Formats: sequence, C-alpha cells, structure tokens
Amino acid sequence: MPAEIVDVSRADVAAHYDDLDHLYRAFWGEHVHHGLWTSPDLTPEEATRRLIDAVVERARVSRGDAVCDAGCGYGGTARVLAHELGAQVTALTISQAQHAYATATDPGSENPRYLLRDWLENGLEPDSFDAVIAIESSEHMPDLAAFFSESYRVLRPGGRLVVCAWLTREQPRGWERRWLIGPICREGRMRGMESVAEMQRQAGAAGFVSESFDDTSHQVKKTWSLCIQRVLLGLLREPAYRRFLFRDGGPNRIFGLTMLRIRLAYEIGAMRYGILTFVKP
Ligand SMILES: C[S@@+](CC[C@H](N)C(=O)[O-])C[C@H]1O[C@@H](n2cnc3c(N)ncnc32)[C@H](O)[C@@H]1O
Repeated sequence: MPAEIVDVSRADVAAHYDDLDHLYRAFWGEHVHHGLWTSPDLTPEEATRRLIDAVVERARVSRGDAVCDAGCGYGGTARVLAHELGAQVTALTISQAQHAYATATDPGSENPRYLLRDWLENGLEPDSFDAVIAIESSEHMPDLAAFFSESYRVLRPGGRLVVCAWLTREQPRGWERRWLIGPICREGRMRGMESVAEMQRQAGAAGFVSESFDDTSHQVKKTWSLCIQRVLLGLLREPAYRRFLFRDGGPNRIFGLTMLRIRLAYEIGAMRYGILTFVKP
C-alpha cells in the first residue's frame, strides 16, 4: 500500500515548479535532485554528478543509445547524457518555466529534444528507447501504474528503466504518515510515496523484471542539511526571498518547513531514498 495518496493534478505540479522556478534555480541550480555522497568529502556539485553517474551506470547507457528522461527538470541530466555520453536524448517536463530554461540554454537543440509534455500522455513511439530514466519525478505523477506502463511501452525489449525515488519505510507508523509523509507529499505536490516493495510490485504488474535496488538514504540525506543552510543564508541576505516566502496568502513559505520535515524523516528512517532498476524482458 502507498503510505499516502494525495489528490494532485498535473496542473498543480506544473504550477509548483513554475511558481518556485527562481527559488529552485537559486538553491538547486539546474539539477533538481539529491546529491549522492559516495565519499563524505565530495562537494555538492560532485555529489550531484555522482547521482547522475549512478543512474547512467544502472541504465547501461552507451554512445548512440536512445534515452528518455521522464521528468527532466531544467534538462541538466539530459545534457550530460547527450553532450558528454553521446546518447540520443528525449527529455520531458510539464513545467513551462523549466522547458523555457532548457530550450534557452540549448537553443535549437535536437539532442536533447526537449518536450513540454506529460509523461502519462507522452505519445512517443512504442519500443523506441534503450533506457528510460526518472529522477525524482515518478512521485509527482497522479497514477504510478500508468508511469510504469508508459515506461514499459516505450522501451524496447531488453531496455532498462532506472527510477530514483523518494520512498517510505515498509510500514510507516501512524504519526509518521500524519506529521511527516503526508505533509511532505502535499507541500511538494507529490501523489505519494511508496515502499520499495510496493514500487517493485507495481513495476512487476506493468511487466518489468526487477534488476536491483540500492538504498542510498545515508548517502543523500546531507542534501537537506545543505539546502536548509542555503535557504537560511538566502533569507538573511536577500529581501526578495523573504518577500517571496512570507508573502501573505502565498503557498511558498511552506517550502522552508518541508525541508525540516524531510531532514527529520530521513533521520528517523520514515523516509528512504533509493535507485530502482528494472528491465523489460
Ligand atoms: C524533482 S524534479 C526532478 C527534475 C530532474 N529529473 C532533475 O533531476 O533535475 C521533478 C520533475 O518531474 C517533472 N514531472 C512531474 N510530473 C510529470 C509528468 N506527469 N510528466 C512529465 N514530467 C513530470 C516536473 O516537471 C519536474 O521537472
């Protein structure tokens, strides 16, 4: 069972990323995902790159492979795949602001091909990709079964799906659901978070074979200490951030609270972070 089901629409998710566009870019840059501290002395930039490397390794991306990034944010990972690794990349986001940034950064780009499009109605050719990657996007999609079935449909046989996911422990306690997981999902416009067993069950129902699961919670949680520090410094130094976060009736001040909840949820094990790899037989 999912730990939480939140009624979130595609429009809510798009509005979240559009509204918080300049905050995300100020605090996260063009990669809106956790860093992976494979060693404690990595810089945040190196840790961010390590997560991408971990995805690339599991997706077994080689030069010329067709790769789809389902929920690509500003296109940071798609550009690494296309420009550094020579993959043929299609990258989808539902945020207009993110799509505009990606196309402005890479004007006229055909590789990556940036699409402003819902993954659940992607219209891409069946059996056309060697790999699909989804870095922290599946939690936003209102229908997880459809996320997996679309991934399965567009992959060719033998193709890999790599999902970096926010997860819960197997059986979250009642108060963890109420005070941590539920609010984190609502505040971050996420449909829900599942346990790894539930993710694997749903992927299996779509036809996938599960290849591996890596629990990287301990290697990613430092991301939140850094974010909290950055936001506090930003608030001290930038009146524009204060106005934006605390403006009356604005939904955005919650952004700060959510970070504290996430940090705590990792600390006590209510939340986990994992990289799941599946293969289409
Ligand atoms: C946390 S961000 C991660 C972005 C990117 N993967 C990265 O690592 O920088 C979540 C992304 O999922 C995208 N997303 C959420 N729901 C989507 C959907 N139904 N179709 C396409 N993209 C979606 C959002 O637009 C956003 O770009």
